[in-house]
Amino acid sequence: MNSDVIAKDEQQGDEWAFICKVADLPRNDIGTAKHPGGRLDLAIYQLDGEIYVTSDRCTHGAASLSEEGEQQGHIVECAWHNGRFDVRTGEALTMPCRTPLPFFDAKVIDGDIYINPKPKRFKKPE
Ligand code: FES
Repeated sequence: MNSDVIAKDEQQGDEWAFICKVADLPRNDIGTAKHPGGRLDLAIYQLDGEIYVTSDRCTHGAASLSEEGEQQGHIVECAWHNGRFDVRTGEALTMPCRTPLPFFDAKVIDGDIYINPKPKRFKKPE
C-alpha cells in the first residue's frame, strides 16, 4: 500500500491515513507524528502490542505529551501539572485536566501506522 495515500476501507467506509512506521517509534517512550491534515501533532503510545494515538497537546495547557509526558501502562501523565489521561480513550482522569484528549482509531498494516483522521472524544456514560 502506498504509504502517502489515504486508503478507504470499503467495508467500513472509513478513511485511513499513514502517519509513521512502527519502527520509527522510540523504544519505551511516547512517539510523535503529524496528523495527516498537517496542523495537529499526535502522540503515539505502544501498549501490550497495540498502538494508541491521541492529540499531543495536553488539554489543560500547551504541554507536549510526547515530549514531556510519561506513560505508565494505559495512563499518560503530563509533566506540567500532573494531569493524567487514558491513552486508549483520551479520558481525562485527574485534575487539573477536565477535557478529554482527542483520540484516533489506529491500525498497523505491514509495520505502517494508519489513523482514521476524524478525531474522537471520550464521553462519560450518562
Ligand atoms: S499542562 Fe498538562 S496538566 Fe497542566
